[in-house]
Amino acid sequence: MAHKNPIIVALDVPSAEQALKLAEQIAPAVGAFKIGKELFVSAGPHIVKKIRATGASVFLDLKFHDIPNTVAKAVAAAVRLDVQMTTIHTSGGSEMMRAAETSAQDTAKSLGRPAPLVLGVTVLTSSNNETLAEIGCEADTEKQVLRLAQLAVKSGLRGLVCSPLEIMALRKILPAHIQLVTPGIRTGAEKADDQKRTLSPREAMQAGASWLVIGRPIYAAENPRAAAEKILESIS
Ligand code: C5P
Repeated sequence: MAHKNPIIVALDVPSAEQALKLAEQIAPAVGAFKIGKELFVSAGPHIVKKIRATGASVFLDLKFHDIPNTVAKAVAAAVRLDVQMTTIHTSGGSEMMRAAETSAQDTAKSLGRPAPLVLGVTVLTSSNNETLAEIGCEADTEKQVLRLAQLAVKSGLRGLVCSPLEIMALRKILPAHIQLVTPGIRTGAEKADDQKRTLSPREAMQAGASWLVIGRPIYAAENPRAAAEKILESIS
């Protein structure tokens, strides 16, 4: 499912000032901004409102994982902040996922806005088979990703976060309306960093990604706005 502008820029910067400056500079060239734990914990909910005020959509990536009632309330608070996407851990189980999705729908309805996408996170890419074995999960990572993805869809979620190398396998088993949001994107022009298994923006879109989460290739570029425009051109 392609969006007019599927680029989500990760605002992985430590201060509200830096985030806002970057957002104002590149908002017209991107589809949304991702606010993660570092920025949210240091700058607070206010930064969400400020970024929304640039006219951009916000992906609040806090990866909730708790008892269903607590996750539902956190999702409701995110909806009240007017975010367009947020994340929960699918390993919290079907009851937790259903509570999150219902809370997103009901809260949005009461405010007269469209419900944000509650995205499920399956197995973190920092985990491998040993990590799963350590916590008592005998499945390998790939099987576990597919299992959690199917559980997420059954529980009513409308989207998932996945690595670029999982897109094709997920597209084979998931209904077409499920939105896939993919980090690990590299254009080839940037310095080597900690991302090991990457695809280019074009490859990821062709594999079936709905949205691309891109951090350093845009915010660490000499001209972030031009970098975003070039990536958009490469996938248009
Ligand atoms: O700078 P870079 O493009 O690597 O940023 C990618 C963003 O996506 C970061 O915010 C990172 O935390 C996030 N992410 C990731 N890989 C995952 C999940 C999230 O890179 N598996």
